[in-house]
Amino acid sequence: MKLVIANWKNNPKILAQAKRIFLSVKKRAGQLKNVEIVICPPFLYLPELSISRSRLKLGGQDCSWEGSIPLTGEVTPSMLKSFGAEYVILGHSERRRYFQETDAVINRKIKSALKTGLKVIFCVGEDPRNQIKKGLKGIRGGVMPQVAIVYEPLSAISTQKGSLVVPAELRQKKTLIQNALKQMFSRTVSQKIKIIYGGSVDEKNIKTLLKETEMDGFLIGQASLSSSRFLKIVQFCNRNRRTT
Ligand code: 13P
Repeated sequence: MKLVIANWKNNPKILAQAKRIFLSVKKRAGQLKNVEIVICPPFLYLPELSISRSRLKLGGQDCSWEGSIPLTGEVTPSMLKSFGAEYVILGHSERRRYFQETDAVINRKIKSALKTGLKVIFCVGEDPRNQIKKGLKGIRGGVMPQVAIVYEPLSAISTQKGSLVVPAELRQKKTLIQNALKQMFSRTVSQKIKIIYGGSVDEKNIKTLLKETEMDGFLIGQASLSSSRFLKIVQFCNRNRRTT
């Protein structure tokens, strides 16, 4: 089953708009049985959307680690869970770039999120092998099926031109990521981990991505802020059952 994740980032600007997008997607989502849809809104919208989530899954876009020290401004994995989130995005390139998140910090967050029972959407970018090695350090193979790896190079995000990484390169990166996982864990474990793509995915390029790459899902930014555009992507993925 394909995993399709909406990363709304710091959008939409008001709650009413967030509810409108969410409800339109929800209305249609009930009929789409071959795809898992996760909406990751800004933290503040989670409680409102959580009330009416039905088949849609919710996720956070980041979290801190659990701990006994005070962490001003942070949201912990258990807080996310208590508002109905089942997933959390960690290691997004925008957090690495603008908030100076290091591999060590991301690793700590991943461990804490998994311990709390959240599924992790772990983003890697320009240097996937190294980021995987450091980000997943010390994590047991047994919990790895709870992690999806997103290949999302910074240069492919929000290009506005619809230009994105070419399918041949994506196939190559998927193999590279699988090999890195095989090396770190085992072949069996690596086969249970979804490898997905993010970066300017839209309702136009999704057909090619589905046909010419074997990605297990997609992480969508801009195009997920329009329910009609997002639903088109989800519907294509729903029809395309080929998966790992
Ligand atoms: P865009 O789909 O807007 O390029 O964003 C990709 C992204 O960063 C999703 O996490």
